[in-house]
Amino acid sequence: MISKKMMNAEEIEKNAHLFSCPVCGGELKLIDKSRLVCTDNHSFDLSRQGYVNLTTGAHLTKYDKALFEARKQIIDSGFFTPVLKRLTNLLSKQLEDKTEAAIIDAGCGEGSHLSTILLELGENVTGVGIDLSKEGILAAAKDHPGHIWAVADLANCPFADEQFDAILNILSPANYAEFSRLLKPNGLFVKVVPENDYLKELRAIFYDEAEREQDSDPTARVAEHFGAVKTERITYEFPLDQELLAKLIRMTPLTWGASEDKVHDAQRIGITSITIDFTIIIATRRNEGFEC
Ligand SMILES: C[S@@+](CC[C@H](N)C(=O)[O-])C[C@H]1O[C@@H](n2cnc3c(N)ncnc32)[C@H](O)[C@@H]1O
Ligand SMILES: [Zn+2]
Repeated sequence: MISKKMMNAEEIEKNAHLFSCPVCGGELKLIDKSRLVCTDNHSFDLSRQGYVNLTTGAHLTKYDKALFEARKQIIDSGFFTPVLKRLTNLLSKQLEDKTEAAIIDAGCGEGSHLSTILLELGENVTGVGIDLSKEGILAAAKDHPGHIWAVADLANCPFADEQFDAILNILSPANYAEFSRLLKPNGLFVKVVPENDYLKELRAIFYDEAEREQDSDPTARVAEHFGAVKTERITYEFPLDQELLAKLIRMTPLTWGASEDKVHDAQRIGITSITIDFTIIIATRRNEGFEC
């Protein structure tokens, strides 16, 4: 049986034209199904699991293995299902006339969202997931083989210009100049951002000033870089048992730095339902409106 590493390596080999060297910007080629090498001889080994690390320096990240395991359990529980359905719907409309297409999830974490969406989009769509966290990409390459998984910085995307039909950016930081460089002229950019009521039951306990100061108007930022922009709000309640609540507390940056007392409080209060409140920002480079 073909190994997971080989499944991932074959996807990289077939789609090597998507990549560009993060050091010199040159073309990359897969050699011996084991390393990507550019015309200037910069070389990037595939890992045992078949992902490639295309970062050029050390990056510190708070997203560790335990966080991604908790996040995967939350995702598997159906927590994100309504929003994933909407994203799948948007992308399938966007890609319906294409015989071949490529999409990238920038800040894909442990890869579940991208792999769920790809399952619905069909085999003619190539999926690329990048994240700065090695633990996230390692989990993605192990759990969702057959796609392209790379440790990479979305602020210095190791991909050639205008290669992607769609870019997903779910609850992750953005670099709009990079995203508009990567997107084909008729491609679609889709970003999911938390709204005021997202996890409001937890926010009431773990309110964090620093977090509140983050980009307060991402739609305006997107509009500075894209031709047409529209938004949709998606809000629902999700039931939680004690075990899922514990996972949710572990997976969200909201609880980083919180005291154990506060974590116990949240667990003791026994939140049984949580509010999910997102805006989906949809944008195109051209100012010609939307097909989806
Ligand atoms: C809240 S998580 C969301 C992960 C995933 N999209 C999800 O919804 O489960 C934010 C992710 O952004 C990633 N990230 C942060 N800065 C990044 C950067 N400069 N380049 C790539 N990924 C980054 C983190 O490693 C983390 O996996
Ligand atoms: Zn190079």
